[in-house]
Amino acid sequence: MAVLELKNLHVALEDGTEIVKGVDLAVGPDEVHAVMGPNGSGKSTLAYALMGHPAYEITEGELLLDGKNILEMEADERAQRGLFLAFQYPHAVPGVTVTSFLRSAINAIRKAQNGGEDDPIPIPEFRKELLDRMDRLKVSRELASRYRTGHRRAQDRRGRGEGARRPRDGGPRDHPLSADPRLHYP
Ligand SMILES: Nc1ncnc2c1ncn2[C@@H]1O[C@H](COP(=O)(O)OP(=O)(O)O)[C@@H](O)[C@H]1O
Ligand SMILES: [Mg+2]
Repeated sequence: MAVLELKNLHVALEDGTEIVKGVDLAVGPDEVHAVMGPNGSGKSTLAYALMGHPAYEITEGELLLDGKNILEMEADERAQRGLFLAFQYPHAVPGVTVTSFLRSAINAIRKAQNGGEDDPIPIPEFRKELLDRMDRLKVSRELASRYRTGHRRAQDRRGRGEGARRPRDGGPRDHPLSADPRLHYP
């Protein structure tokens, strides 16, 4: 059975303009599918609609996740069942590291799957899983070290002889991700 299945999916904007006109797609376990097309052809519209963005309405067709119709579900309910929409242009949020963002997302899903009771992932398990996934996706380990939090940063500062001179304002320039221009997007 396909994990995600779109059958004759039509998507319209709030003003009724139909953008996606009948897409069929079946994504099986461990499959990667790339949807390609010219700018403005409706790829993002389709992705938003799958996730349940309120500005996009699925006007016709079926949308199944693990065989279950998810059309009436809110975005958070779809997320709890395993759908995730990655950012095309992630915004840097001062003070929020990618790791803490991902861990919050995982913990929200674990909570939902645990009947609404908190069930946070233990940090060592989270770190192992994060690094395993990064390896699988060939994300460089150099980037992984930037995902580390206080401990590594303290080591880095000690390495540079800056132990006692940590900036106190905690502003964006103090942020390990904000400090890397490759992680800034327009
Ligand atoms: N929120 C929106 N409001 C108005 N028009 C939109 C909106 N989202 C998408 N569109 C229009 O829908 C069409 C498809 O856009 P989009 O899904 O972003 O294409 P793609 O991702 O394939 O480049 C474009 O004409 C775009 O202007
Ligand atoms: Mg797009």
